[in-house]
This record gives sequence, C-alpha cells and structure tokens, in this order.
Amino acid sequence: MTFNDMILLPGWTTIEPEEANVTSHITSQIELKIPLVSSPMDTVTEAEMAIALARQGGMGFIHRNCDIETQINMVKRVKRAESYIMSDVVTIEGEKRVSDAFEIMKTKDIHGLPVVDKDGNLIGICTWRDVRFAEKNLAVKDIMTRDVITAPKGISPAEAKKLLHKHRIEKLPVVSDSNQLVGLITMKDLILRGKFPSSSRDKEGGLLCGAAISPFDLQRGKTLDKFVDLLITDVAHFHSNNCFAATKKLLKELETPLIVGSIGTYDAALDCISKLDGIQGLRAGIGSGSICSTAVVTRAGAPTLFATASCADAVKETGAKLPIVADGGIKGPGDVTLALAVGASICMMGNVFAGTKESPERLVALEGRYYKQYYGMGSEAAKQKRYALDRYSQPSKVISEGVEGWVPYRGPLIETIQEFIGGLKASMGYSGAKDIPELWGNARLAFVTPAGSKELSPHDIFLPGGTQPKF
Ligand code: XMP
Repeated sequence: MTFNDMILLPGWTTIEPEEANVTSHITSQIELKIPLVSSPMDTVTEAEMAIALARQGGMGFIHRNCDIETQINMVKRVKRAESYIMSDVVTIEGEKRVSDAFEIMKTKDIHGLPVVDKDGNLIGICTWRDVRFAEKNLAVKDIMTRDVITAPKGISPAEAKKLLHKHRIEKLPVVSDSNQLVGLITMKDLILRGKFPSSSRDKEGGLLCGAAISPFDLQRGKTLDKFVDLLITDVAHFHSNNCFAATKKLLKELETPLIVGSIGTYDAALDCISKLDGIQGLRAGIGSGSICSTAVVTRAGAPTLFATASCADAVKETGAKLPIVADGGIKGPGDVTLALAVGASICMMGNVFAGTKESPERLVALEGRYYKQYYGMGSEAAKQKRYALDRYSQPSKVISEGVEGWVPYRGPLIETIQEFIGGLKASMGYSGAKDIPELWGNARLAFVTPAGSKELSPHDIFLPGGTQPKF
C-alpha cells in the first residue's frame, strides 16, 4: 500500500482541529514541536534550511555529499545561529593582525571577536566597527576594547538581557572564575529567541541540528559527534551484514544518538531492534521518494506507508521505544497524517522542502514560473560529487537510482510549514485525535479504489490554468 491507496476515515471527535497537539519525539530524549524534518540531500538541507526548520520547531539533517569539514561548518553555522550561550566561540589572539580579524569576520559572517591570550583568558573584544577602518597591520590587542563587560557561567537569559541593555552593548563574553572564556551571549540571539518561541533547541539554547553519515565513515561520525544533536545513517539498504557490523562500531564509539535506515520491512526492523543495541530510531521507506528510481531499476522497494506500518508492528510487538521516521513520497499534509497514523513519529521530506526559499539551489525561471533544482542522491548529478557514493551498492556506481529535475518554487519555508501543520491539525480533527499518540490509537484507514480517488479530488469543473488538484 502507498499513500495514494489509503484514506483516513472520519471518526468521533471531541477536539477542534486548532487544539490538536502536533509535538512528537524523534528520539526518546528529543522532542520536536512539529513532526517534520528535512532530508539529508545536497539540494535540500544545508545550514540555511536547518536553521529555518529548527526555528519552526522541526529539524534539518545536514547532507553528507561534501567533505567532513564542509559538513561540520554547516552544523556549526546552525548551532551558532542563535544559541543563548554560544560555546563554540570564534576568538582571535591579541598578537594577531587586524587583517586577520577582518578576514575571520568576513568569511565566518560574524561581527565581534573576543580577544584571548595564549591560555584562552579573555583580554578584550574587537568588533567589526573597530577593524573596518583600522590600519590592517596593527596588532588586534592595540585596537580592541579592553574594558569588557562579562557574564559569569550560569547567567540567565533575563539577566544577560539586562546587562546588555544597561551597558548598551551587543555581545557579552561568558567567563569562568579564572577569566577563561567559556561562551558568548549576543543581543541578536536573545532577540531571536523571543521571535521563534517554538524553535527546537538544545540545553544551551542553540538550534537543534542533525546530520547524515555513512555507517562506514567512523571518522566523520567522530568529528560530528562533538557538534551535532542527532545522527542518521544514510544508506539506501541498511538491512545488511556490512551495515550492521559498521553500525555496531559507530554505536560503541559515538555519544550522539543515532537513527538507522533506510529500512522497509518488519524483519529489518526486528533485526535492528534485536541486534543494534543503543539505536534511537528507525528511518523507514525505500523507493517512494519523488526522485527515486531504485524500484524502477531494481524492482525492489518498500513504499513509505507500508514500510512505516511494518516497522511500527515490530516496534509494538517488541515494546521497543524507537520512534519511526517515515521518509519519502510525502506530497502534502494528508500524507503526513497517514504516515503518523500508521505509526511514524516524524516525517522526513525532500521534495517539499527543496522547493522552498531556504533550500540550497538557485531559483530558475522556466516559461514564466519559478523552480528549484532537485535531484536524488543516487542520480548522476549527486554522484559526481562523489562523497555519498556508498549510499548505494557497487553496481549502482554504473547505474543511477535517482533522477534530476525541478520542483515548483514554494516561497519561504514558513509558508509551507503553516500549510502542512494546518492540514495535519485538520486531519487530526477529522480522526478525533488530540495528539499524535492518540492518532496512533484512534486513526482508522481504508483502501480507496481508483474511482474513489478520482471522486475524492475536485472534478467536473474547469480550474484556472487547467490544473486539477489530485487526491
Ligand atoms: P521525497 O519524496 O521527499 O523523498 O523527495 C526524499 C527521500 O528519498 C530518498 N532518496 C533517494 N532514494 N534514490 C532513491 O532511491 C535516490 O537517488 C534518492 N535520493 C534520496 C531519501 O530517503 C530522501 O529522504
């Protein structure tokens, strides 16, 4: 069964759709305000997408089709975007030149650098205003501000705001008792914190960020381990001896929670549950993705709705506390509800997010409409970058399991999120579920015939531009 085969039957309800609670767990420890995450694909999730999605309460998974440093830098950008106390502070030593400070600020897009001595003690701060017109050969310590207002560890956001206001400053270095720099609070971050109250945050207030790894790339895993909140394995067919052996090593070496996949069957889920102690979630769905040609080429696949339901059976029967991420083929909020209804906790989307302003690709105009490029990780375009070749098996190096094309431009991500969350809440209202666990229990699905699906879409009417919305 696939999304298009099924319909959610209306049920007795005691709630109004706007009352539906759409929070969900992506791991037992990480709760998201909305059950949506973005696919780790180079046409979908780089820092901008991950920042925008976390601000809306979801989470982005940074793709791995790049070298480790590039991936880490994207993760760092997300974590730095608006943490309450930024711990990974970019600093400069006092002996360095103004030209060095200028270069760091330009390349890292930051406007103030705490200045430290060789032992990491804070000795001053230098801002964009200080360096912009200064002689580039001077030492940073000669142009920096020496009397720095600092905050102690453990300062609250409200206290920090008061200090920033009182001294009319933008940045507040956080220091230990012995004057070691341990963090930085910025006015911008405190303001942004108030602007996105539903955002997904870590303990320090930084935005949550996920990243993809190959199970075989322990080095990448170890490097990401210090920075990222959640890792997801990124292979087309995870249910294999090699993937399991490699994942056991990852689980031993890494502290970051790990979601594994992609898998598509009850047996695969059972094996993950029984053989991979320490995993935190399952990524379900093989071949349903809008850019997938895996099933066309190989006739193998497990459509996302089927895969999710099969994994959910295994999770339920074993009593494992493993959230399921339904991945691939989701076109609209109704598909999200169906995936959740059969047991998913979270939905992963590529196509939908690829069309938003925050995806990495440029906007192109074709015959008066705007589009963004979108391609599968098994397509020729993705394979040319070479970093994610082990997503597919050896023979796939000569065949493609993905296609490349364009998706219609959808505008800023927030509009798509509003559409999806509005639709999801409406569906939950129809099925009488006040939250996602209740949807798992209450939802009743039925098969739809081709004639039924035709009747359930607008029909017998001419629509502007000849378009026909489809069920
Ligand atoms: P949607 O439908 O949201 O699906 O575009 C995105 C998901 O598709 C998977 N993916 C692929 N599957 N060949 C495949 O068989 C590919 O080239 C490919 N690229 C991505 C992936 O799980 C993603 O989240």
